[in-house]
Amino acid sequence: MDAQTPAGPSAADLQRAFQRALDLALAHAARGSDAPAFRRAHPDALGRLGDVPDRGRPLDEALAALIEDGLSPGMDTGHRRFFAFIPSPASPVSWLGEFAAAVHNRHAGSELQSQGVAAIERAVVRFLCDAAGYPQTSGGLFVSGGSTANLAGLCVARDQRLGEAKRSRGVVYLTRETHSSVAKALRILGFFDSQIRVVAIDGARRMDVAALAAAVTADRDAGRRPFAVVASAGTTNTGAVDPLSEIADLCGRENLWLHVDGAYGASALLSPAHRPLLAGIERADSLSWDAHKWLFQTYGCGMLLVRDRSLLAPSFALTSDYLRDGAAEGVEPNFWDLGPELTRPARAARLWLTLQTMGRDGMAAAIAHGFSLAQAAEKAVRATPGWIVVSPAQLAITAFRYAPAALSDEDADAANAQAARRLMEEGFAVVGTTRLDGRLSLRICAIHPQATAADMTATVKRLDELVRGIG
Ligand SMILES: Cc1ncc(COP(=O)(O)O)c(C=O)c1O
Repeated sequence: MDAQTPAGPSAADLQRAFQRALDLALAHAARGSDAPAFRRAHPDALGRLGDVPDRGRPLDEALAALIEDGLSPGMDTGHRRFFAFIPSPASPVSWLGEFAAAVHNRHAGSELQSQGVAAIERAVVRFLCDAAGYPQTSGGLFVSGGSTANLAGLCVARDQRLGEAKRSRGVVYLTRETHSSVAKALRILGFFDSQIRVVAIDGARRMDVAALAAAVTADRDAGRRPFAVVASAGTTNTGAVDPLSEIADLCGRENLWLHVDGAYGASALLSPAHRPLLAGIERADSLSWDAHKWLFQTYGCGMLLVRDRSLLAPSFALTSDYLRDGAAEGVEPNFWDLGPELTRPARAARLWLTLQTMGRDGMAAAIAHGFSLAQAAEKAVRATPGWIVVSPAQLAITAFRYAPAALSDEDADAANAQAARRLMEEGFAVVGTTRLDGRLSLRICAIHPQATAADMTATVKRLDELVRGIG
């Protein structure tokens, strides 16, 4: 008997399923502000997802289950009133760019396999390096996100500033406001917690440079090898920007690698009005920047930029006989020699498409809008009795808390946490919680280009109703 070729879906099946996916995508793009920002998955639906049938079922039926049961429940991080963590208000243009890239499925590791994709990645990286104020020697690549960018940047820092023999004595400096992905990266790179120095912060939760200098001196005196400082250009907690210029001065004097985590905040570079807030970032040796945050891209889209692109290959280039067919033909190395991945998707394509259609001005306006939303949130909090601003608007983040005189700190903590939880469960909005100065604080990160000041006022009003038990 002839071996059977699996037929796969017919052209008509594909037509129907793609049309359905398109209809649902457009409906999703057009969802109004009354759509829930959170919807918990039904356990039965989750159970159904676990079955793999013996015989394949119709594509449109399986697709409906994928979208309805699998992809729709949970937090809608692209909802205009999703304010927790760092939201991801991905543009439908980004969806389209990712879709087109997936269809062609070009291998973005070697240029021979995808010359156009390499040119796109280089062009977008150049645009971002220029925005950072980097020199022509700079470069970088797309990675899966901020965590990987921090990992790759710190890998280069380690290789450039610590010889193998000195690794066990290396020390890196950060603050407790530094994103946890940095400590995770250091752990993956083989450093022990004892090699991480948590430097004091000032009243605005920024790295205290005098404390940094003292810590470096103490470590040198003790025979250790300070090698890198990780500064934040926009902390996740409050949007604070460390004093980048002063830190860069110190790094220059002490021959330390300066890695700036701009996963969230570097996007402010693209708003001319706000760029000065990040002055000094151009002196970073390496810079993490996420496009799946404030550049409106779908998840899995981040960048690592470096002032000197020739420093990437010494950390990441390795070859083997079976890769020689894809060896670089021009002067620029292959992207697979510049970062941790060999096979990599064309991540830059979606941001390229977005930038082409929004233009510099459109992107600047969309980013600037986040600043005004955070200010609107702060204003709404200040106008509501019983509430206090814990951290005023910085970048697009405001932190605040219900703290009437009549409530103990502990009871206020519980009231704030419950209000955030109920707000999410009812689906009106999702507001994050964090701890600042030892107390639970609510936190709004507002970067959705379609969100309005009225959304901010309505969210604070609803929280107020919830804490007062009116809800
Ligand atoms: C400042 C900062 N750095 C790093 C990360 C980690 O980025 P990712 O989640 O893309 O890995 C985040 C995520 O929110 C962040 O806010």
